[in-house]
Amino acid sequence: MKIINIVGARPNFMKIAPIVEAMKPYPNLEGILLHTGQHYDDAMSRIFFDELDLPKPDIYLGVGSGSHAQQTAAVMIAFEQVLKDHQPDLVLVVGDVNSTLACSLTAAKLGIPVAHVEAGLRSYDRQMPEEINRIVTDALSDFLFTTSKLAGENLTREGIPKEKIFFVGNVMIDTLQNHLVQARQQGTPAKLDVSAGDYVLLTLHRPSNVDNRDILSSLLDALGEIQKDIPIIFPVHPRTMERIHKFDLRGKLENAPDLRVMEPLGYLPFLDLMANAKLVLTDSGGIQEETTILGIPCLTIRENTERPITLTEGTNTLVSTDPQKILHETQLILDGKGKIGDIPELWDGHAAERVVQILNYILGDRKPT
Ligand code: UD1
Repeated sequence: MKIINIVGARPNFMKIAPIVEAMKPYPNLEGILLHTGQHYDDAMSRIFFDELDLPKPDIYLGVGSGSHAQQTAAVMIAFEQVLKDHQPDLVLVVGDVNSTLACSLTAAKLGIPVAHVEAGLRSYDRQMPEEINRIVTDALSDFLFTTSKLAGENLTREGIPKEKIFFVGNVMIDTLQNHLVQARQQGTPAKLDVSAGDYVLLTLHRPSNVDNRDILSSLLDALGEIQKDIPIIFPVHPRTMERIHKFDLRGKLENAPDLRVMEPLGYLPFLDLMANAKLVLTDSGGIQEETTILGIPCLTIRENTERPITLTEGTNTLVSTDPQKILHETQLILDGKGKIGDIPELWDGHAAERVVQILNYILGDRKPT
């Protein structure tokens, strides 16, 4: 049975890695790794292949950046030919990026079954491009693997039959658990001249936060205040750096010496920094989950989240883009009043094994060797 595993953008790599690994013991499963090239910088792509021991992609589409329509269409056109040439039995997509949508749509149109790992997440905010990608991908998928029971309930409310939904846990947490010891040996805080437990880690890249000058400017002001009390480590996404330049906001960085701006980091140093932070400020999706597992307080700079389990069971708090709220919640954590969370059900490091067992059972019905 031939399965094409899809990656495209940074958050995909840590999700596909344990799935590729889990397929190895099954001689009847032939996994083909395809990289769309949505992310192409070394720091956004290649470094993760090295750190996560991912094999070099068998197929690289090299689509690069563009508007949503350009990027999605470029992936679809290139991927359609791949499907015709390879005739796979299944296409497996992860997450919610444009590559996820483009590949599932192309496969579905050719009648090729689609498996979606991390199905059923909903922010109910269609201004977020990822929300549209999630809804369409889930509607087209034949196998929907979820990280929580709530995600399964979201899917059944949308009319997706229960037989297609499998609650397996969180593959990104498999990768975290597989790499935590190695990450902690990196000594990243010391290399960046901060002490464990005495810095804030920050990421910011959502269009809703960085594409609007007023919002980005007021966020940088709030960060300018926080860095007076505690250093902030800020590995900057290329889109955010581009906007800071375009909106002429570099002065705000120069006036904040302890807002320490740097290139995007690899998986291991970033995980090391998360695990040792006093708190994490972010607008990422995956980081809300990773901090929950690490027991590190996380303040999410968004109005909503598609990962509510991190609020109800984990260490996450939504702070919106309101500077007062951000400063208030940060102060609570600095005063030792951060949230202490639990580990969500089945986030146990074995989610990818469950995904592959289920696929093998349904499609191949053979035992691993
Ligand atoms: C994409 C995903 C988002 C994910 C994020 C992680 C979609 C809709 N969004 O957003 O869900 O959280 O990846 O990073 O798929 N760029 C580079 N080098 C690269 C890649 C991008 O410089 O290797 C710059 C380009 O200017 C590009 C911009 O970043 O136009 C945005 O890239 P894009 O892939 O469109 O979306 P992200 O914001 O990265």
